[in-house]
Amino acid sequence: MKLVIIGSGYVGLVAGACFSELGHSVVCVDNDMRKLEALKSGIMPIYEPGLERMVVANMAAGRLSFTDDLGAALVSADAAFIAVGTPPRPTDGHADMKYVFAVARAIAEKAHGDLVVVHKSTVPVGTGDEVEQILNAAGRRFRFSVVSNPEFLREGVAIGDFMRPDRIVIGAEDEWARAVVSRVYGVKGFEGTSVLHTSRRSAELLKYAANAFLAMKITFINEIADLCEAAGGDIRDVADGIGLDSRIGRKFLNAGPGYGGSCFPKDTLAISKTARDHKVQLRTVETVIQVNENRKRAMALRVLDACNGSVRGKTIAVLGLAFKADTDDMRDSPAIPLIQALQDFGATVRAYDPEAMDNAQGIFSHVTFCDDAMDAATGADAVVILTEWQEFRELNLLKLRSRVAAPLLVDFRNLLSEDAAVASGFDYWCIGRKNSALDLLGRPIAAE
Ligand code: UGA
Repeated sequence: MKLVIIGSGYVGLVAGACFSELGHSVVCVDNDMRKLEALKSGIMPIYEPGLERMVVANMAAGRLSFTDDLGAALVSADAAFIAVGTPPRPTDGHADMKYVFAVARAIAEKAHGDLVVVHKSTVPVGTGDEVEQILNAAGRRFRFSVVSNPEFLREGVAIGDFMRPDRIVIGAEDEWARAVVSRVYGVKGFEGTSVLHTSRRSAELLKYAANAFLAMKITFINEIADLCEAAGGDIRDVADGIGLDSRIGRKFLNAGPGYGGSCFPKDTLAISKTARDHKVQLRTVETVIQVNENRKRAMALRVLDACNGSVRGKTIAVLGLAFKADTDDMRDSPAIPLIQALQDFGATVRAYDPEAMDNAQGIFSHVTFCDDAMDAATGADAVVILTEWQEFRELNLLKLRSRVAAPLLVDFRNLLSEDAAVASGFDYWCIGRKNSALDLLGRPIAAE
């Protein structure tokens, strides 16, 4: 089939690469000429494992191309996927649909025949209806039908999530559109994958509901982690214990510094606003948003606690800046409020991330960006692990100990073994357990 993907951001690019890998002929359309030129030379605008190889191979095979010419791309197209951004509006937090609607107008103007238009972007319920109205209002003689086909990709493992999804959701309002999108996925590789056919509105809603539920799961385990710290207990055992219940499941029960990224913060806000517009209040989701924001800010206070109440004049090494591992994405990263607060409290920050340094440089000022973890830790009064990169799991702790000015390790991802950290001479602070620097009654043990 010939597929056109409009928007070569995270979702569009991964979808385009994967659809071409599955054998479809794919044209990706974007209006950012610099991005297009880079892509044509095999340079990816984002860091995503496996993406570059897939894009380059499929371009070479003639199945994937990039252009700014929507009209030319739409010639003989079976379906056009809209995958442009829906950022929160600064005024009210609603998902901003202006890019989606602009694309709809452009498709209506440039289509060459009947066309199924598919939403891949996460869009508020009812957007499909509006896009269909825009398409039909253009007065072309063609038949347009809009389908919601939300993606459930996680950054860092997006290729795997696309090629081996838990489910494919097709929200269509007529048989023609349903059949076209079913054919897109009816290819070798997707046999056995659950395909859920729903109404368009259900598909739009369930994407938000999925992200809100996952954000709630994380927020719940983060609060239980706080309780473990206060009451005694180990959040990893608690998560394992409840996760073995098949009704709950162990995934997304890793306590940490609070969720970030381009999806959960934006989508939880958007679904709660949408609900209010429909005179429904999603109290659980609104609470999740609040608890998570507070948590991200409170992480700096934990570093202060570990540093005997003050970081003024101290040097803090922050390992990990991206909102999670295997991405260079800094959007809503817990690193942002943490570093800002540490600086406000008078600390000097040295930072390192394997992939996100370029993006981070545009966000922070007065941060020393370092070559690697050992470099960042040199002369530090505390080392803070913020992102769960594999290379931090494999840190040589004895070497790290020899670099720091004070042996204080704050592990916000529970990445390291406490025994190994203590054996290497560190006071070890983590999430959801009593800290090694406290005695059994919770009293600080004086550092050497
Ligand atoms: C999320 C969803 O997981 C995807 O299914 C969805 O398609 C995507 O949003 C989207 O809407 O586009 P993503 O934001 O890439 O994917 O990353 P996640 O792996 O879900 O992580 C989100 C945040 O939750 C990160 O800050 C991560 O560190 C945090 N997290 C995740 C935890 O703190 N604990 C966990 O157990 C899992």
